[in-house]
Parts: sequence; structure tokens; C-alpha cells
Amino acid sequence: MSTPQPTLPQAGPVLLEAAGVEKRYDKFVALGGVDIRVRANTVHSVIGPNGAGKTTLFHMLTGTKTVSGGKIMFDGHDVTREPDYVRVRRGMARSFQVTSLFLTLPVRENLRLAAQGVAPTQALNCWSAPVGKLSSADTIASVLARVGMERFADTPAGNLSHGQQRRLEVGMALAARPKAIFLDEPTSGMGIDDLDEMKHLIQSLKKDHTVVLIEHNMSIVMDISDTVTVMQQGRVLAEGLPGDIRNDERVRKAYLGNMITGGKA
Ligand SMILES: Nc1ncnc2c1ncn2[C@@H]1O[C@H](COP(=O)(O)OP(=O)(O)O)[C@@H](O)[C@H]1O
Ligand SMILES: [Mg+2]
Repeated sequence: MSTPQPTLPQAGPVLLEAAGVEKRYDKFVALGGVDIRVRANTVHSVIGPNGAGKTTLFHMLTGTKTVSGGKIMFDGHDVTREPDYVRVRRGMARSFQVTSLFLTLPVRENLRLAAQGVAPTQALNCWSAPVGKLSSADTIASVLARVGMERFADTPAGNLSHGQQRRLEVGMALAARPKAIFLDEPTSGMGIDDLDEMKHLIQSLKKDHTVVLIEHNMSIVMDISDTVTVMQQGRVLAEGLPGDIRNDERVRKAYLGNMITGGKA
């Protein structure tokens, strides 16, 4: 389904490009040929009703699951058949709907493990260990500041509030020092105060990263996205600037009407 590409004067070059991505589970078509182009240093949101295929698309882009068809280019490389850990090394990091924290470990240790995940061989090679430790200490300090959690560095992750845990999950992804960060519903289950903090955090990330965001809170999507891709039944229904998507008749008809027009003045 071809949709006109929006022109974004501030956007960088295309960092991630997927063409005709398909995913079948037996006869069920979860993705029926998805095209998406994500420009560097933007927030690119993927929205759509439950079951539209958003999380499946993330699995395809990050390599958690294999595609049934199509092609994925990242940072100039064809990553379509590469396993997830190779894509992590290329600069993809993800924070998924399922919580992946070590609850008994302090925040700092969670981030250390995530930072070391970038180069697993370093953890096994005693000769390079000091370098690894040094760089991971720097990374941890900068991530703690980035997600605003310096004062919780020694707090076990299990003692954090829900909102703080979700911010730490973003921090875990950042600790891999990624080019692109994939966030799957980072605000799910959050209260209003935490929502605002997460919104500002995500918005701040695009200075140094490219953000691909699945988000159901329309007010956040409309406020912080450079580009919005709308999915429905495993396909792209529309793509454009937030304002265009808000006014897109097909999108309104499909499911958004009330949420967009009713949600904001
Ligand atoms: N492992 C699987 N086996 C079979 N069907 C799946 C599997 N994973 C997801 N699906 C189906 O694919 C569709 C898209 O799911 P998903 O990508 O999770 O949607 P979204 O994230 O947009 O809510 C849904 O109908 C879901 O039931
Ligand atoms: Mg999902």
C-alpha cells in the first residue's frame, strides 16, 4: 500500500528501511507486507488497534523472530537474516512490553548487565575486562542521568515504582549505546505523573538516537512523533506527520476518530 512520504526538514537520512515484511503463523498472516522507513534522529511511532501487528513488526525489525518474507536494511546493512544479537551490535536496542529487569539487583547492576550485553566476549576475556569495566561505568553514569534515576542507583529494581521500572527498562536499552531504540508501549500501566516524565524522556532521546515507538496514548503520540505509521490487520493503513494522521479520514474511520478528536482540544 503506497502512501506519500512526509517531508521532514529536520530529519536525518533513512536509518532503517523495511520493505514488504511478512510474517505468517501457519495460515494466519500477522504481517501482510509492511513497508516502513525510519529517519535518523526522529521519533517514529507505530500505532493501530490491538492485534494490528505492531509488536510482530518490532520482532521482525529487531530479529527476535524471523521474517516469512521481505527485506530489512539497517544502517546500510541487510539485516533481514541476522539474529538479534548481531543486530544489537549494529546498534539496535529494544525495550519490550514484557518486563525484563533483575528485580533483586540494584538499578546500577541492571544497567551494568545491559551495558555488558553489547560485547559478551568482553565478559569472557580477562585481558579486556578493565577496559570493559571502565567504559561500562561511564555508560552507566550517563544512562542514570539520562533517565533521571541517579538517586535510585543502589535501589533494588524490585523496590522501584512501576513508572520508575519502566524508565529503567528504557535505560537498559540505552545502556547498549544503540543507534536506534525500539520501545513497545513504554507507558503501559502508568499514572499521569509518570506519563509526562516518560514523554519527555522519549522526546529527549532523538538528539542522540532514533526512536521507534509503539504507543497507545494518542496525546503522547501526537505530541512527540515526527512520523506516525498506522497499522491495521498486518498492513500499513497510513503514514504521515501527526497532524496529517489526526485528520486522515481512513484512520478516523478505522479506529481513531474519537481518541484523536476527543482526546485533545
Ligand atoms: N506466536 C504467534 N502465533 C500465532 N499468532 C500470533 C503469534 N504472535 C502474534 N500473533 C498474532 O498476530 C497478530 C498481531 O499480534 P501483535 O503483533 O502482538 O499485535 P499488536 O502488537 O499490534 O497488538 C495477533 O492477531 C496475534 O494474535
Ligand atoms: Mg503489541
